Amino acid sequence: MNVLVTGGAGYIGSHTVLCLLNSGYDVVVYDNLCNSSYEAIKRVEKLTAKTVKFVEGDIRERLALTELFKTNNIDAVIHFAALKAVGESAQIPLDYYQNNVHGSLTLLEVMAEFDVHNFIFSSSATVYGEHNPSPYLETMPLGRPTSPYGTTKVMVENIMDDVSKSNEKFRGISLRYFNPIGAHESGQIGEDPKGIPNNLLPFVAQVAVGKRAKLSIFGDDYPTTDGSCERDYLHVMDLAEGHVAALTWLQDSAQFRGVEAFNLGTGTGTSVFKIINAFEVATNKNIPFEISPRRDGDLPAFWANADKAKTALNWQAKRSLEDMMTDTWRWQSANPNGYNN
Ligand code: NAD
Ligand code: WQD
Repeated sequence: MNVLVTGGAGYIGSHTVLCLLNSGYDVVVYDNLCNSSYEAIKRVEKLTAKTVKFVEGDIRERLALTELFKTNNIDAVIHFAALKAVGESAQIPLDYYQNNVHGSLTLLEVMAEFDVHNFIFSSSATVYGEHNPSPYLETMPLGRPTSPYGTTKVMVENIMDDVSKSNEKFRGISLRYFNPIGAHESGQIGEDPKGIPNNLLPFVAQVAVGKRAKLSIFGDDYPTTDGSCERDYLHVMDLAEGHVAALTWLQDSAQFRGVEAFNLGTGTGTSVFKIINAFEVATNKNIPFEISPRRDGDLPAFWANADKAKTALNWQAKRSLEDMMTDTWRWQSANPNGYNN
């Protein structure tokens, strides 16, 4: 099976490409490298001793996409390519709608033109919005996310639903990721954010390696066990394996038509203080921190109900919080400047 992976040079994409190759799939990566490095692909090739067909390009470029589908026999698409910085999306919302929504539309149009109907979309826990109670269940109504970034994910999920109603061949899966962290156990590939990291673990790792002086904890007065926010952190390799499980499910479910959503999380919330403690224990590094004001748009606590993925996809997150910390540190300490060493 030949799988097109958009955004395959990115953080989750590169780990998924590695798992796909190790599971025997052929992979074509299409990425404009706006937030990633070709070096990630080279390292995946080395780790798997397999080759990846890489095409540099933008999902909004219809002609380039048409050429891609013409010259490759694509059976399924895993669609990671998107901009993902929540704060930035409020500053430049049109860029986010343009990239994430218009880009997805163009991709879906070209797929239909070439009779390709297997589509796995990178969605997010953010689609549940502010008002659904945790644990989040796939049957809950989609909410109103607190950022334009989150809105693009809801919009693409709605577009997939409408496409499936109009095209009886469409077979879509929305994977709603919770908080992926960690890195491949080799320490060769990992998360390489540009500039100041927005997300917790990359920031913690950069403090540990001496690139940042201290962590700001955004609020310690939330109604949670210790006052800091709680999230459902999962290992990026578990998440990557979730994509292989979803693809296998599509292959095994010949009769399936429509769209199915699956939460990919562990089912457990962990606070910011607990994350810092787990990182310190696993790595023997001290993480200085200060308490800062709450960050706009942060919800106090949310986590997944991941039963559906377990029952239907036979997938379950299996790596521990300690694995997530150890693997983050192995990647960060070996690559203090990410892929730009
Ligand atoms: P990332 O930024 O590392 O990867 C995204 C990749 O897409 C990058 O390689 C980037 O260069 C590429 N890209 C962006 N716009 C493109 C375009 N127009 N054309 C071609 N390539 C383009 O991000 P990630 O963390 O790996 O996230 C992957 C997907 O998962 C995204 O859709 C993101 O919204 C979603 N997601 C991420 C998280 C998370 O916490 N990391 C959580 C939920 C959902
Ligand atoms: C985790 C916790 C912060 C940084 C975001 C997106 C979500 C999804 C995953 C894509 C929060 C706290 C953070 C710091 C801190 N992405 N924090 N100091 O906000 O749960 O989710 O990424 O779909 O849509 O919103 O993840 O890693 O930014 O924050 O105290 O320097 O860490 O307040 O409680 P978040 P995060």
